[in-house]
Amino acid sequence: MSHNLLKGKKGIIFGALNEDSIAWKVAERVHEEGGEFILSNAPVALRMGELNKLAEATGSEVVAADVTSEEDLENLFKIAEEKFGKLDFILHSIGMSINVRKGIHYTECRYDYYHKAMDISAISFHRVMKIAKQKDIMNEWGSILALSFIAAQLAIPGYNDMSDAKALLESIARTFGYYYGKDKKVRVNTISQSPTKTTAGGGIKGFGELFGFAQKNSPLGNAPALDCANYCVVMFSDLTKYVTMQNLFHDGGFSTTGLTEEIMGHVGE
Ligand SMILES: NC(=O)c1ccc[n+]([C@@H]2O[C@H](COP(=O)([O-])OP(=O)(O)OC[C@H]3O[C@@H](n4cnc5c(N)ncnc54)[C@H](O)[C@@H]3O)[C@@H](O)[C@H]2O)c1
Repeated sequence: MSHNLLKGKKGIIFGALNEDSIAWKVAERVHEEGGEFILSNAPVALRMGELNKLAEATGSEVVAADVTSEEDLENLFKIAEEKFGKLDFILHSIGMSINVRKGIHYTECRYDYYHKAMDISAISFHRVMKIAKQKDIMNEWGSILALSFIAAQLAIPGYNDMSDAKALLESIARTFGYYYGKDKKVRVNTISQSPTKTTAGGGIKGFGELFGFAQKNSPLGNAPALDCANYCVVMFSDLTKYVTMQNLFHDGGFSTTGLTEEIMGHVGE
């Protein structure tokens, strides 16, 4: 159901890969709420061709950009400026770790892979905002979001160097959010989402067990991707104008639950 919450708002959505992607659901919901956007992903992801379906369904343009390349991002923002003038929202829904992909243990990780994980999954958030701010492309009260995970706060085996990437991502949201708020009244937040069955999520060692545990240890159960998309819509809307520099948990209560009865029943003596 649409409430026209984003009527007239324009933005960029990074990270829709396939129908399971959180960014895919966000794009569909933003479109339903009247928002317009450019869809962006790495050139290698675009070659899979899936994104064209979403672009057609939402009347959006697709622009390739590897978020580790300032040149690609400059080009993307130039196209966005020509198309929309100013922007109201940006979604950073991007994560990748070669140490995770190759199943290399956290304590044994390769640092070239580690740097890559930080660059793609966290520093890219800074890079995107740096270029947006330099171009002065965001409208006042614009909203910028990135997706995070509770492994930034809690040790979760298997999440590997992505834990460190998420901690950095959340710190960038706070620190960049301070300056962007002061200078341009732009707000910056992260949403810390429940485990979700997607390509990136499924790559985590023990993801099935993590998903099942979080499901049982959250009073409301794991938050589905569609509900995460709804939260993003609200965060992009004018209903949340004074929310900035926050890590917002969207996790069915997992982050503030010690133990549920279901988990206690499993452990026993
Ligand atoms: N799935 C989960 O359990 C979960 C939970 C909490 C947070 N998140 C976060 O949500 C975000 C989206 O992940 P998802 O679960 O929808 O998986 P996904 O695999 O659908 O999305 C990850 C995206 O990152 C893109 N990407 C990777 N390298 C890139 C690069 N160099 N340049 C541009 N894009 C690049 C991929 O192409 C892909 O579209 C990530 O930040 C992820 O860490 C996921």
